[in-house]
Formats: sequence, C-alpha cells, structure tokens
Amino acid sequence: MKFGYFDDANKEYVIQTPKTPYPWINYLGNEQFFGLISNTAGGYSFYRDARLRRLTRYRYNNVPLDNGGRYFYVHDEGDYWTPGWMPVKRDLDFYECRHGLGYTSITGERNGLRVNQLAFVPLGFNAEVYRVKVGNASDSPKRVSLFSYLEFCLWNAHDDMTNFQRNLSIGEVEIEDSVIYHKTEYRERRNHYAYYSVNRPIDGFDTDRDTFLGAFNGLDTPQVASEGKSGNSVASGWSPIASHGINLELAPGEEQSLIFMLGYVENPQEEKWESLNVINKKPAKAMIEAFATDAQVDSALADLAAYWDGLLGKYSIQSSDDKLSRMVNIWNPYQCMVTFNMSRSASYFESGIGRGMGFRDSNQDLLGFVHQIPDRARERIIDIASTQFEDGGAYHQYQPLTKQGNNEVGSGFNDDPLWLITGTAAYIKETGDYGILDEDVPFDSGRQGSATLFEHLKRSFDHVTNNLGPHGLPLIGRADWNDCLNLNCFSNEPGESFQTTTNLDGKTAESVFIAGLFVFAGPDYAELARRRGLEDEAVRAEREIENMRKITIEHGFDGDWFLRAYDYHGEKIGSRENEEGQIFIEPQGFCVMAGIGVEEGLAEKALNSVRDRLETDYGIMLQQPAYSKYYLNLGEISTYPPGYKENAGIFCHNNPWVTIAETVIGRGDRAFETYAKIAPAYLEDISEVHRMEPYVYSQMIAGRDAVREGEAKNSWLTGTAAWNYVAITQAILGIQPDYDGLRVDPCIPQAWDGYSISRSFRGAEYKIEIRNPHHVSKGVKSVTVDGKTVESNVLPVFEAGTSHEVVVELG
Ligand code: GLC
Ligand code: GLC
Repeated sequence: MKFGYFDDANKEYVIQTPKTPYPWINYLGNEQFFGLISNTAGGYSFYRDARLRRLTRYRYNNVPLDNGGRYFYVHDEGDYWTPGWMPVKRDLDFYECRHGLGYTSITGERNGLRVNQLAFVPLGFNAEVYRVKVGNASDSPKRVSLFSYLEFCLWNAHDDMTNFQRNLSIGEVEIEDSVIYHKTEYRERRNHYAYYSVNRPIDGFDTDRDTFLGAFNGLDTPQVASEGKSGNSVASGWSPIASHGINLELAPGEEQSLIFMLGYVENPQEEKWESLNVINKKPAKAMIEAFATDAQVDSALADLAAYWDGLLGKYSIQSSDDKLSRMVNIWNPYQCMVTFNMSRSASYFESGIGRGMGFRDSNQDLLGFVHQIPDRARERIIDIASTQFEDGGAYHQYQPLTKQGNNEVGSGFNDDPLWLITGTAAYIKETGDYGILDEDVPFDSGRQGSATLFEHLKRSFDHVTNNLGPHGLPLIGRADWNDCLNLNCFSNEPGESFQTTTNLDGKTAESVFIAGLFVFAGPDYAELARRRGLEDEAVRAEREIENMRKITIEHGFDGDWFLRAYDYHGEKIGSRENEEGQIFIEPQGFCVMAGIGVEEGLAEKALNSVRDRLETDYGIMLQQPAYSKYYLNLGEISTYPPGYKENAGIFCHNNPWVTIAETVIGRGDRAFETYAKIAPAYLEDISEVHRMEPYVYSQMIAGRDAVREGEAKNSWLTGTAAWNYVAITQAILGIQPDYDGLRVDPCIPQAWDGYSISRSFRGAEYKIEIRNPHHVSKGVKSVTVDGKTVESNVLPVFEAGTSHEVVVELG
C-alpha cells in the first residue's frame, strides 16, 4: 500500500494523506541553521547543535505522535483547523505534502479555503522562511484569521526538558512591530536570540503559551484559534511562544501570501544592547528585509534548487528502471548529504541531545558525499583525525560544536582507526589532492602534539598490528563495527552502559570483522605510502596485510562461512559450534570485499551461506539464530528481543557489504537482488509494512524472529545511506573513482541491456554509455573515448572543464 508517489521531475515525494504510518519527515538547511519537518508540519529547528542551540521545542515520546511544530491555525467563521491536519485533525477536503530537496510544502483545504505552507532555509542564511498562501477557492468573499504558532526552547534542549525549577521563571521576550523576539538568558551570558516575524502588520499576538492555549488545553484546541482572537499576552517566565494573529479578507478566487521567518542572531559582546535590557535588533531587521517580498523568496528557492542540481548532477544515471533512477539521482545522494549535516544527532529517533559525531560513522558517511562536496569532506577528515590519539586509537565520538573528543564515551572501539584510512583514500581518489596527507593534524585536539595526516594513517594501521590477540587476529576492544557485541564487558548492573563499560582487560577477545576491514583498508595505506616514495613502508604494510589474510583463513573460517569473533574465554562466536548466533553477516561481507578467500572458493561459500541462512524477503538479517536470552559474555546484542536491531534484525548498514561482496565474485544478479530488497523506492508498495519513509533508508528492518517482521525503524541517520550509494554507483553500476582515473567495471544483472551515466570527476564531465549486448554480468570487452578505442578501463583524468563521450561494451 502506498501513501503517496514520487514526482521525479520535481525531485519530490508527494504524500497524499496526513495519516502516514509514522511521521514522514524532511530536513531543512545546509550549513548552520537546520530544521526537521514532518508531513504534518511537526518538528523543530536549531542552530548548528541540536542540543546546545535548540530554537523550538519538540517533545519526543509525545502523545499524540508528532505534536509540536510550526503551525498555522485558520479561524473561519467559528470553524478552526490546520492545513497540515495536525494538531487540530479537522477533516480536510484536500491535503498534500511535498517533500523536496531542502524544502517542504504542505497544502490543506477546507470549506473553500486553501492554505499552503512552504518551509525552507535559504542558502547561507540563519533562518527558516515559511511562505503561507491563503486562497479563497469559493465563490463568496471570506473573512478569516490566521494564527501562527511555535514554542521556543530555552536553548539547551536537555536542560529545557529537565530543569523546571529554574526554567519556568526565566523566559523573556520582546515584541516590536510584527516581530516577536525570544531573548531568554540574553540578559546574562548569552549573546544570541531568536525571532519570529511576518511581513505585514498584525492584528494581535501571543507570547505566553498558557494564554494562547487556555488552561489545560492541548495544541489541538487552543483558545486563541477557537475564539479567533489573540490574547496579546507577554511571556514572563513559564513557556514563551510566538504567535501572530492576522485578519484576512479574501475576495472569491483571491490568494494572499504572507512571509514568516524564524531567525537566529548572534551579536558581538559590545553590541548586545540597544538600550538597557533592550536587545540589539539590527541584524534581525536586516534579515527580515531580505525576505520581505515573494520575489525574494522565489529567488532564494531558485538558488536552493540550483544548489541541489549542482550537487546531484555530479553523478546521474539514465536507465529504464525508474526506481533505480530515483534512488541514484535523487534520494540516496540527498540522504547522504543529510548524514553529512546531522551525523547521528537529530532525527525522529535520535533526540539531538545524546550523540556527537562518530569517528567510524563519519568516515563511512564520507564515502557517500565526498564527490558532492569535496572541500567540506576535506575539512571533515581533518576534524575527525584531530581527535585521534597518538597511539592510533580514537575517541568514539566528538562534539560538532567544540570538535573535541567526547570523554563520556571514550575510546577503545578497535575498528575506529581503520575507517580513517578508508575515508581519506576515498577523498584522494575523488580529488587527486595528495596534499591533504601533508597537513599537520593534532592528536587529541592538541593535547598529544601533532603529525602529518599520513602519519595518522600509519598510526591507524599500526594500531591493529600493535593489538593482536592469541590467534594473531585483531583484538576487538570495547566493540568493533557492531557496537552491541561487547566481549570485554560482563555487565550485570541494570542500566549500566554497554558502550562505556569495560570491566575485563581485553587481551583475548578477537574480531574477524576487524581482520577483514584491515585487509580491505590496508592496501590503500600501502598505496599511499608508495606514492609518497616510501617503498619500504609499502612493502612492510603489504606483508602485514598478507599475513592477516592468511590468519583470517586459518583461524577465521568455520567451514562454510567466516567466524565472527573469539570471546573473552577464547571461544568461537558465529560458528556452527554455537547454539545461537551461528552466522553473522559482517565478516562475510567485509572479508569478501577485502578479497579474502576469493581464490580459494571460500568467498563463494560464505556468500551462499548468507543467502541460505540470513536472507529474508525484507533483506539480510545480521545473524542467526537470534539470541533468545541474555548472554553475559556477549553484551548488548543479546539484550534486544529476537529480530530487532543487532539481535538478528535486518541491520541495513551491512546489507550493501554483501551486495559489494557479490560483485567481487562477479554475481551481478545476486548483487542487484540484495540491493533492491532494501532500497526504499522498491519498498514503496509495502509502506504499510515498512512504515518508514519510502524515499530514505532506515537503520533497521525487523527480522524473521520479530513480532513485526519487515517493519523499519530509525530512518534517515544511518551509514546505510553511504554504503548503498557505494554499492549501487560503484560496485554495481561500476563507476569507481581511483587514484589515476575513473575505473569502469560494472557488475550487473545479466538481463540488463545497458544504461548511461554522467559523472563529473576532478572537474571534467564523463558521459558514459554502458552496453551489454552479450548479457553478461561482469567484464569490460572494449572502451572508446570520444570515438577512439582505448586499452584500459581506467578512464584518464581529463582537463577540467572538458566533456567526453565514453562507450563501454561488456562481454
Ligand atoms: C549504529 C552506530 C554505528 C554502529 C552500528 C552497529 O548505527 O551508529 O556506529 O556501527 O550501530 O552497531
Ligand atoms: C545502541 C544501538 C546501536 C548503536 C549504539 C550507539 O547500542 O543498538 O545500534 O550503535 O547504541 O550508541
């Protein structure tokens, strides 16, 4: 069952009912100012950091769901309603939500009045602009009132939800003309405020929540909207809000447009005040001026569209499969950019107050956006590397606002360092910018000196070889990619964090996954060393990699698949010898991606085992059989009920590893099959089962053991976005940035006749046509560039600004 449709020409997903299975959201903002907005206008806004600079309130775990957002109440002769349906939930004669790239447009119509609210954050601007159009579709004149509404957060989202003894006494606002200024704590140490404006005179306002709502009312029955009259209340303490009251007279067929703006201003210390306790409003007024007219809004929308066209135009496909095209051309790269902006901080599942940027997460996210924004990817790499320790270990997370490692979570996740090699290599392959390796980069934000980025990569590589266990496999530390496989944490304390508890010394538990990752990432380190003229170092690295490859086959293979790990007692995990958790997906994907066991036929065996034991109609489960009880020696993985999350859920992040692995052994049909199983556009028809947005990946889909098999959770902020982007654009469609050019090496379903790709690479345009007349999966038979046959399938780096026609025939 579908709840909407893809409008590919406009790059939008169009939702046709407000009653989606769950709020389906979108993101606004690209630089500093961000908003989350649902299809019923719920959500919130923040400046840079969802915890420390939260502008508007949102209550997670709320009832009814998705209650709180940017609302426009319409009062029409005693009747009142909201165009996004929520929160009033009055029946609408027409409803539509269009989620586009960086904007959301919601339309509702009732009794001949059509209201459209469009929300976006203009480029380079610290505000959300809402254009509200009110149209009289009836044949008689209408007199209606419009009441805007949003609720301010007192900046620190965590404190705001916990510290009521203080917070209910500190709220302060100023009201001048049509602008409501929120200035709580500005009187003391803050030099920032928020404001909510509208571009016309108002007939009333409210800034005190209780006055607006009326005692004990909810957002669905605010007194002001039901009576059609503002209370002109001035907040003092309690809960400050912003509401404008505007009376409109509309002739039949007439439409009026109003421009609202929620903005954020920081004043220099010496320019904080206009006069005693009166804030300096100059910057706000200048911002409001910039969006006083529809023409200004239209031009900013055009700029935003051009910005996205520029980013998405870096890679696009023309194919006969619309679902594939919309994933590759629009939604997957869009989601990758959202992960760049948000990491794992703010979604409808991440509260925005808990987690910083993950060392491993951010390096992996980079694989999905590096071609779109190489300069910002460069900065991100340096930021991440700056939190690394001298010994190559890394803070698991860092805070975006301070860029410092997060001490509460600490370090000891032994896969973390290796992702820095993969992220950096991807950046260099994309850009050819070897200079990044010479950058002087601090250790632990300067507390442990500094070294070149190349030296950081060396420490990452050596961190593995310096921390080997009894079989010569890498020690797992607190956990590897699977945060919930906690082999050195024997926790019996309710509520104790599995992420931060290590109560054993950790000199035995080993990870086959890290071994695979080492063999996968290591060759890039060796190659970069060689390209710096460090031949001996390259040879040394290659020896270590080869050694790890052998050890993985010797101690990490279990007959038909790769083992997962050895536990604290040296016992196997992910082995046929285990009763539960016999086979895990992660080492199968990663070891084969690294090429381990390909020649020996073990890779094929492992992938067949994945197909036979882990695959379902909804994707590939993380492990089987699910853990039915808590295991002290395994940790958090066994805390989840069977079928959810790491305990045998379909943890989408690692499915593309299998997809890519299938291309390593040349099975294009299998590769595409596993890809399409979890790609959201292909799941649109089962939205009632899947329940999350059909335009973005979710972290997890419930597995076979779960009560609600096939149901997804944790949409948007997941490494799934980047890895599936790599799987489809590079492994399957075969356009692979490499050190010396663009390699073309597809691995596709045999039935495909071909497709065309446009790719910008280091400033040049490559128009690549792939033909498959012999219906093979893999193997490049011939390549022509601008009509001339060339020998290699690595297309050269062309002069920036030039454009080239490439024809590749498979066979
Ligand atoms: C979450 C984390 C990621 C981890 C994964 C598996 O997605 O963000 O770092 O690898 O879970 O536990
Ligand atoms: C929980 C989640 C896991 C995530 C981790 C991050 O353990 O199950 O997916 O990586 O939290 O803090």
